Amino acid sequence: MTFFLTTVLSIFAAVSFAQTREIFKISSNLQNANSSAQFTSGPSGLDAPKVHPINASAFDLWYFDVVSTDPSSLASVVIIFTSESPASGPPVLDPTQDSILIARLWVTFPNGTSWTTQAFADSATVVAQENVSSGQWHGTGFSWKGKARPDSGYRIDIDAPDVGVKGYITFAQVAPAHLPCGPISTGQTMQVGPHIGWANAVPDASSTVDLEIDGEKLVFKGLGYHDKNWGDQLFSHVASWYWGHARVGPYSIVWFDFLDITGEEFVSAYVAKNGRILTASCDLNSLSVRPTGADGGSAYPPVISTPNPSGYHILLDVGEENGRMEFDVDVVQDIIQPNPTYGRFIGNVSGRISVPGGKKGAWYTKDLRGVALFDQFKLTE
Ligand SMILES: *[C@@H]1O[C@H](CO)[C@@H](O)[C@H](O)[C@H]1NC(C)=O
Ligand SMILES: *[C@@H]1O[C@H](CO)[C@@H](O)[C@H](O)[C@H]1NC(C)=O
Ligand SMILES: *[C@@H]1O[C@H](CO)[C@@H](O)[C@H](O)[C@H]1NC(C)=O
Ligand SMILES: *[C@@H]1O[C@H](CO)[C@@H](O)[C@H](O)[C@H]1NC(C)=O
Ligand SMILES: *[C@@H]1O[C@H](CO)[C@@H](O)[C@H](O)[C@H]1NC(C)=O
Repeated sequence: MTFFLTTVLSIFAAVSFAQTREIFKISSNLQNANSSAQFTSGPSGLDAPKVHPINASAFDLWYFDVVSTDPSSLASVVIIFTSESPASGPPVLDPTQDSILIARLWVTFPNGTSWTTQAFADSATVVAQENVSSGQWHGTGFSWKGKARPDSGYRIDIDAPDVGVKGYITFAQVAPAHLPCGPISTGQTMQVGPHIGWANAVPDASSTVDLEIDGEKLVFKGLGYHDKNWGDQLFSHVASWYWGHARVGPYSIVWFDFLDITGEEFVSAYVAKNGRILTASCDLNSLSVRPTGADGGSAYPPVISTPNPSGYHILLDVGEENGRMEFDVDVVQDIIQPNPTYGRFIGNVSGRISVPGGKKGAWYTKDLRGVALFDQFKLTE
C-alpha cells in the first residue's frame, strides 16, 4: 500500500508543481496489480519512471551508451538500468532473473574484446526534476545523475568491486531531447510503436569513459546517448525494430523503424545540427531504414531465421529547406553475444546530404562520414 501512496502523491506533485523534484522508490519485487503506464507527455518528468507499479508484464528502463569516435578503436559501453519483469522486458538477456532491478553493463575494448556483467539491486530510487533524472540501483554500486539546463548532461558512477567495475562516464549534451513525434512538449504521444514508450533525453552527447574492468583500464572519448523505454504489456507487440544513433559531420541522428505484429510500420526520425533540431517526426515519409548485405541479411521484413544484415540503408527527410539525407551504416563489430532475436552493433556511417541550393531547382550534396551504435530485434518467424 505504501507504494501506491507514494505514486499517488508523486503524480499529484507533478501536476501541481511542474518544476518540483519528484522522488520515486521502486521495489525489487514484482507487484500483483494492474500497472499504469504514461504514454502522453506531461509538463515535466521526461526521464521519470513511467510505469507504476511493475507487474509481471511491465518494464521501465533507462539506457545509456557510448561509442568511440576514434575510427581505429572498437571501444564501446552500454549500460541499462532495468525495472522489469523477467517475462516482459526487451529480450536482451536470459529471462531467468529473479530480481526486477538490474544494472547491466556491456563493454568492448579498443581491440574488440567484449566483457559483460550485471548486478542485482535491493531497491531503487529515481529522482526526476524538469526533464532530467538521477537514479540509484541500491546495492549494486551503479548510479546516474542528470543535470538540468543550462549545463545539461548526465554522469554515471560505478563502484562495484563485487562485479569488478569502477569508474565513471560523462555525457555532455550536444543535441536537444525529443519524443517519438517531435521536440518535447506537453500532450504528445510517447509511444514509438504500440505499447512501447520512448523518451530520448540525450540524442547525442560528447562523452568520456574512464573505467577499470577487472584491473584493465578502458578509457576513451566518444559519442554518448541516453533514452528510456517502457511498457505495460509483454514485449510481444513488437515483430522487429531497427534503432540507432550516429553523428555524421555536424549532424546528430537517431533512427527508429519498427514493425508491430500486424505488420504495421512506425518510425521516428531525428536530426539535429549545432544543438538545434532540424527534424523530429514520426511521419512515415520522414525515415526508412532497410537492411543490407548478402546471404539473406537484406531480407525485409526480417524474421528470426533471417541472418543479421551487414548494415542498413537509411533515408531521412530533413525538412524542406534542409533537404534529404541518405547513408549506409556498416556493421564493424557485434557488441553483444550474437543471438537470433537481438543484435547490437557499432559501425561506420557514410553518405550524403542533398540540400536545395540558392538557385531554383539546384541542389548540392555534401559527403558525410561518422560512427554509430545501433540495435535490432526480430521476434517472429
Ligand atoms: C486488473 O483489472 C481488471 C479489469 O478491471 C480486473 O478484472 C483485475 O482484477 C485487475 N487485476 C488486479 C490484480 O487488480
Ligand atoms: C499488468 O498491468 C497491465 C495494465 O493494466 C495489464 O494489462 C496486465 O494484464 C497486467 N499484468 C499482469 C500479469 O497482471
Ligand atoms: C584486448 O584488450 C583487453 C583489454 O585491454 C586485453 O585483456 C586482451 O588481452 C586483448 N586481447 C587481445 C587478443 O589482444
Ligand atoms: C523541458 O521541456 C519543456 C517542454 O516540455 C521545455 O520548455 C523546457 O525548456 C525543458 N527543460 C529543460 C530543463 O530542458
Ligand atoms: C570503418 O572506418 C575506418 C576508418 O575509416 C576503416 O579503417 C574501417 O576499415 C572501416 N570499417 C568498415 C567495416 O568499413
